[in-house]
Amino acid sequence: MLPEPSFPARPANFIGRTREIQSFETALRQGLITTRTPSFAVLGNWGIGKSSLLFRLADCCFQVAPQILPVHLAVSQDIGDYLRFAESLCDKLADALAASDSVTARLRTEARNWKFKQVKAGPITVERDAQRRFLTSGSALLRHTLTEAWHRFIRPARLAGAVFFLDDLQNLSVASGDTALTIRDQFQALAVEGMNFSVCFSAKSHYFSGIHSFAEPAVRFYSKLVLAPFTPAETLEYAKAVFGENGVVSTIAEWLYEKTIGHPYFLAFISRELLALPDRAPSDVWHEIAAHLEREKFNSDLAHLSDKDVALLRALAHADEHEVSPNPFVKQFQYEYFRRLTERGLLIRSGRGRYKLYHPLFRQFLQQQE
Ligand SMILES: Nc1ncnc2c1ncn2[C@@H]1O[C@H](COP(=O)(O)OP(=O)(O)OP(=O)(O)O)[C@@H](O)[C@H]1O
Ligand SMILES: [Mg+2]
Repeated sequence: MLPEPSFPARPANFIGRTREIQSFETALRQGLITTRTPSFAVLGNWGIGKSSLLFRLADCCFQVAPQILPVHLAVSQDIGDYLRFAESLCDKLADALAASDSVTARLRTEARNWKFKQVKAGPITVERDAQRRFLTSGSALLRHTLTEAWHRFIRPARLAGAVFFLDDLQNLSVASGDTALTIRDQFQALAVEGMNFSVCFSAKSHYFSGIHSFAEPAVRFYSKLVLAPFTPAETLEYAKAVFGENGVVSTIAEWLYEKTIGHPYFLAFISRELLALPDRAPSDVWHEIAAHLEREKFNSDLAHLSDKDVALLRALAHADEHEVSPNPFVKQFQYEYFRRLTERGLLIRSGRGRYKLYHPLFRQFLQQQE
């Protein structure tokens, strides 16, 4: 396998996460019996492997019989509101139907025309004007389109249902509690009416933390898969996939684990560099690799920050402990700084209001910088 740090892993190159995959597979099989598949939330910090896992889970949908249609949507920041979100989802559903191997050629063509008609109708995705006036909200649009898709395509194609994989749901600029709750209301109602549609979304690990009490049922609705860095065993598996099963691979894996503490992005980045510098001991080339990391990753982490943000990061890097309480710093840096840097993924909020820098390599970089 050739590591590609800037892209999610292909399902064929996917390493580890057995527990997460198993619980998703169990839910899929359960959904075949009950005709309602549980929904999932994949939560984790920056670069930990959320997108990769979503693609891997989508692959599971092909392994069950009858098959379930996976529909993938990367939620980008330009999808401002729920209506635009619903439109994008309907669009991707039509694409997935038109491309699916398990749908007959006739239905595929019909799905393509269905999408075409929707696009022609303009910004609001319905076929006729009367409906168009009615379907001005995202919820109504989604309900209408999914019901239609169920009867016109999913059932006739003998598919068992569909799972919507929504990557980076935090990008939807609606409050996270509201989105999670609206999506739950929609998909719960569809399931109650016998339509097996469900959701598997990914979001930053603090996605549910600011949720108001009214949205708590939404939190409960999703089975949560919280991603941690790779274990040493997963790191070894990764190293074997990249460097082959040779005599030195376990030494390389140990060295990689020590540097990355199993963080998938850094594993991919450093492994790619090692592959490009064959026949040299990892410790001999570390200096070069660290310089690349600095140029490609850490400098861009700092590029959009204010001087004071950077000053806080440096102060934290020089603290004695990895994990600190904000109290000694708040005279100089208000809580607002901690909150913003956490939102950007540069700080991680661990239990009991303590914070740490997102990775020890980032900490080292800040310590060495003047
Ligand atoms: N299970 C895995 N097997 C192999 N490689 C992985 C795995 N998980 C993550 N990676 C690698 O780690 C890097 C980051 O993964 P990915 O893009 O999936 O993370 P992410 O959590 O979606 O990141 P972001 O927060 O930037 O969206 C990629 O290079 C990917 O190839
Ligand atoms: Mg991602």
